[in-house]
Amino acid sequence: MTRALIGAALLVSACSAGVHTRAGGAVSPLVVQRVDWTGVKAPLGNVRAVADTGNVVAVLGDQGASVFTAGALANRDPRKADWLSAAVIPGADRSARWIVGIDAQGRIHYLHNQSVFEDVSSRYGLAGDRVRGAVPLGGALAGFLLEGQLAIANGQTLTRYRTLPFAELSGGDGSLVGVANGAIDVFRARDGAVTEYRLPGVLHAVVASDSRLYASTSRALYVTNRSSELSLLYLADADSLHGLVVSGGHVWFADGGELGLVDGDHVKETTGALLPVDATLAPSPTGDVWVLGRGALSRYRSASGAPRDDAAWMTVAPVFARACARCHLADGISGIDLSTATAWDANRAAIRDRVVEAKTMPPRGNALGDADRDVVRAWVASTEK
Ligand code: HEC
Repeated sequence: MTRALIGAALLVSACSAGVHTRAGGAVSPLVVQRVDWTGVKAPLGNVRAVADTGNVVAVLGDQGASVFTAGALANRDPRKADWLSAAVIPGADRSARWIVGIDAQGRIHYLHNQSVFEDVSSRYGLAGDRVRGAVPLGGALAGFLLEGQLAIANGQTLTRYRTLPFAELSGGDGSLVGVANGAIDVFRARDGAVTEYRLPGVLHAVVASDSRLYASTSRALYVTNRSSELSLLYLADADSLHGLVVSGGHVWFADGGELGLVDGDHVKETTGALLPVDATLAPSPTGDVWVLGRGALSRYRSASGAPRDDAAWMTVAPVFARACARCHLADGISGIDLSTATAWDANRAAIRDRVVEAKTMPPRGNALGDADRDVVRAWVASTEK
């Protein structure tokens, strides 16, 4: 597979840096609450990674894996302790979402039955590779960071691309984003087109659900503008930025001991959050953010909350009652709680895939009328950002 370079955009910052600094008024206050996400004091050990589907949270560390459903410890799998990373990606069997962990040998393991991890490298066509990262691109696409390559799986085939030696990979909105020394490459899965951005000192880059690319160095945060150039969003007072993640509809970053949230054209930051200054961030489909630092895991929520649309939920609530509640109440037989607006928001991608597109939900033998399916389709369209 050849690699087409369709455009190289240089870093341009049109306005003066002053307005993007704290002193220049670029930062407004952010209030977060630390979320007590499990009542269980499980022996998590030194935590290396977390993957969160909204219903299920898998915490991987040097004591093995712990699996939580609705905050309760459901299972522990102590057999592997060399975890490097974790993600929620489309399954190799074309199911909407698998929790996967990647170990020190670069093998991919899938959380089977919410209980034990199984090596599924060969099922993705990656048996001979050392996988260094896995990310969801949206829809049925999963992306993998390999040595000097990346690969995109669509449930049937795996396409490989030769790339720069990326240090980090992220995915979203149908694209893969690789971060290399001083450069960011954005691969569009649809046609393999690549857009390259030059950004000296770049550490992290992510695509948000509005298709904008966010990138950070240790000093500054950038976002693509209307002409697809990276422009300065926030210039920190010191080399203190250390994390950037898209979580639900939110773009979170870490700045020294503080948590930051992008809010339109400026940023909000906490005062006194006391994060470890080398913490990394991990996403949650709920919009919360996971903070991993010094082996410990914590979870935060913006107190102003996600922009919630209860009017939209009221349109699907009757369909839920008619066609889903039998199996999707909080303690229902499916194990997946869809009884609240928040749960629908957190499961939006899976609801779109299973109910609107693949039509594999409700299961065979359980009717969903065309009119009701249209209501769900309209809900997906109206709540997608
Ligand atoms: C007869 C029981 C039943 C009914 C009715 C039902 N579901 Fe499900 N659903 C399940 C089971 C069991 C699973 C888990 C197994 C699977 O993924 O197929 C599931 C899985 C799902 C998933 C995938 C979640 C994930 O984490 O990947 C979604 C989304 C979903 N259901 C939505 C719905 C919606 C929306 C309705 C109503 C329109 C509905 N279901 C009706 C039993 C049901």
